[in-house]
Amino acid sequence: MRRVFVAGSINMDVVATADRHPKVGETVAGKEVHYFPGGKGANQAVAVAKLGASSTLIGRLGTDAFGQQLRQFLAAQSVDLTLVKDTADVHTGTAVITIADADNTIVVVPGANALVSAEDVAAPVLAKGDVAVSQFEIPQAAIAAFFKRARTAAATTILNPAPARPCGRDLLDLVDILILNETELGLLAQAELHDTDEPVRFVEAARRLPTASDKIICVTLGKRGVLALIGGEPMLIAGRVVKAVDTTGAGDCFVGALAAQLANGKPIRDALEYANAAASICVQRMGAAPSMPTAAEVAAMRG
Ligand code: RIB
Ligand code: NA
Repeated sequence: MRRVFVAGSINMDVVATADRHPKVGETVAGKEVHYFPGGKGANQAVAVAKLGASSTLIGRLGTDAFGQQLRQFLAAQSVDLTLVKDTADVHTGTAVITIADADNTIVVVPGANALVSAEDVAAPVLAKGDVAVSQFEIPQAAIAAFFKRARTAAATTILNPAPARPCGRDLLDLVDILILNETELGLLAQAELHDTDEPVRFVEAARRLPTASDKIICVTLGKRGVLALIGGEPMLIAGRVVKAVDTTGAGDCFVGALAAQLANGKPIRDALEYANAAASICVQRMGAAPSMPTAAEVAAMRG
């Protein structure tokens, strides 16, 4: 069986809900507070495991209470944690999130995630057809080292360059499948994009990314769905109409679902449609990692 390896962040999400977001300098009364397991790496690894593929997470936790709680949660979701290191003298990654009207703001403090190193990602033994996944909440040097090893092993590499950060062509050239939203695409393609733009604008921007044109590029457009460029040819998968309560982790669900489907031998177009359906379930529930769907739930959604 092919395996999915996710090198990425593990956070505790401290979530406050309110009727509206505060303005700068303002205090608003909140309604609920939750402690949800999150972090883009952990969210993606949970999505992979819940959808029935082999999921190994590579990352770091602090030795504090959040670290212990996250380890317990992730183990219960069948994520392999043998490559997750406990690190002394640093706190576990923490995201402070506010949610109002299904929209969020996030301040993420990396803590242990910032110490993920090239040595950490040298541990897993990747094989042909395995899938290596990463995002931008761990240092780019570690991601590059991870993808170099994956490429040598003929594994498929997936980069989700989130949250948006500049990166060089060297890293993009190590990627087989790039999954990004319009903000990340705007930054990397140096294009001014808005979420209301016509799809053709995203296609133009994707074609301007500083990397070879042979890779698969997926632009996630929120409720509008996903735009994919496969061999340079655009294809639009329409979003499903659902009532969103919390979109935190929806992009991670998409990435994890796509990786799981590819590891299970599904063709890319089918995997994209599947991931789109999975993400539409995720937005209907609170929390990041706890809102990842099971394979049975995605099957029911696809009808
Ligand atoms: O993508 C969502 C994640 O981003 C949250 O779980 C939060 O931890 C931030 O890292
Ligand atoms: Na959610």
